[in-house]
Amino acid sequence: MSKAKNAIPIEFQIDSPIHQKTYLVGGVLKEWNGKSADVYSTISSTDAYAPTFLGSAPDMGEPEALDALNAAEKAFAKGQGAWPTMRVRDRIECMELFVEKMKTKRDLVVKLLMWEIGKPLPDSEKEFDRTIDYINDTIENYKELDRDSAKFEKHSDVLAHIRRGPLGVVLCLGPYNYPLNETFCLLIPAILMGNTAVFKPAKIGVLLITPLLEAFQESFPKGVVNVLFGRGRAIAGPIMKTGKIDVLALIGHSSSANALQDQHPKSNRLRLVLGLEAKNPAIVLPDADLDLTISECLAGTLSFNGQRCTALKVVYVHDGIVAEFNKRFSAAVDKLPFGNPWEEGVKLTPLPEAGKPAYIQELLDDAIAKGAKVLNEKGGQHFDNYIWPAVVYPVTKDMRLYEEEQFGPIIPILAFNDIEQPLDDMAESNYGQQVSLFGKDVYTLAPLIDTLANLVCRVNLNSSCQRGPDVYPFTGRKDSAVATLSVHDALRSFSIRTFVASKDTELNNEILEKLLETRLSNFVSTDYIL
Ligand code: G3H
Repeated sequence: MSKAKNAIPIEFQIDSPIHQKTYLVGGVLKEWNGKSADVYSTISSTDAYAPTFLGSAPDMGEPEALDALNAAEKAFAKGQGAWPTMRVRDRIECMELFVEKMKTKRDLVVKLLMWEIGKPLPDSEKEFDRTIDYINDTIENYKELDRDSAKFEKHSDVLAHIRRGPLGVVLCLGPYNYPLNETFCLLIPAILMGNTAVFKPAKIGVLLITPLLEAFQESFPKGVVNVLFGRGRAIAGPIMKTGKIDVLALIGHSSSANALQDQHPKSNRLRLVLGLEAKNPAIVLPDADLDLTISECLAGTLSFNGQRCTALKVVYVHDGIVAEFNKRFSAAVDKLPFGNPWEEGVKLTPLPEAGKPAYIQELLDDAIAKGAKVLNEKGGQHFDNYIWPAVVYPVTKDMRLYEEEQFGPIIPILAFNDIEQPLDDMAESNYGQQVSLFGKDVYTLAPLIDTLANLVCRVNLNSSCQRGPDVYPFTGRKDSAVATLSVHDALRSFSIRTFVASKDTELNNEILEKLLETRLSNFVSTDYIL
């Protein structure tokens, strides 16, 4: 799909490319004079299709990676740094300052989200706003956590003042489909808890982080947040090899997470906070409300072109209704409006990975060769930067489409007669994030819910899978996640319980009282933050 520049609303046009020439290390926006990587959008600005040149970003390597690690280590300073020992109140103030500065960059970040990853305008705005809400909610939750810790406990004549303390240096890597939100859902709780971080934007969705560098620099003490640009292999690998990373926080593919973990020489020291791939199924029972089911399956499989870890990636439909479901679902897929992200009402948008249509075609060819058919008329049609979602049926277990996480616009459908079939498949699967269950009869639903809750971590009743609202736990079994994220859980995932214990003696109690009175310790404190 191509668009003349004058068809692009003026506020979304790329007038001059962004050439990012600085990176943030040790509180300094350092000049970058080394090689850069060009950034292109798969969206065209001209009538004849051509990718749009957006600018360039530094393509860094090991020396800069180690420099950033060193800065983060120095800021943590074996737990003695200003940041990890700072009063909670003061860390919160830094975060509040950051969020105010971040808000001023909304328009530019939203525009870059559309160009770099092809996310529709309302969803790009939502990604930005949801991130702001997430930061504010995290601050409130941290206050609550701190209030709950502002006390002493006493058991068996031992007094304890228990808090949550930071873990150390965090390497933070986010995904391209939520390059702002998911990355910040790791980074923000990590630093708020007193850790320091090295952060590298995803492989796509890089420039949209650049407007925020100054906000990071101006809001946090030096070395708390260090931002690098470049390829994961060139940057993250050398950092992991040093063994100086305490937490690997990554949302992406398990192959990257495994490769990075393997390079860390001290595996017991390394904590993992990982959100990985999934193959969330929809299970459609014979009594399901088909209108509702089709609309939820449409959103579940194809929101942001299926490029969500929570997307429905395989659909099981009961034999009795599969013909009707397939007919109506296929027609609905072909009615979805395709266009550039800023076009009103658009649901399908260009794929940001230039190689994705070819990969989807491979899955399709493999499925067809093994006996499946494309049910919808437009299924598999190629555009310059897109492949129309194909509804593929019947899918069998020997097909790549059944096995691989497609992360794109193609929908495998399987029919089942016996409910044990989808349950067995889920139990065998490497993944265990969520499921969508469609049906009405409580006698059928009850035992299914009880089983499914033990196979995945969220059972969505008559609704598509999703991460939000962010107060709910976001996690998965097997290869789908390590640790739990949510506003509440992330603060816990990035910290450890640590406490001061003292036998209930006159001497100790006098010391404790003096510590509280003088407010000399930031740890031993019963001050409340309201
Ligand atoms: O890519 C995975 C995201 O966590 C999905 O989030 O369900 O809000 O789209 P979402």
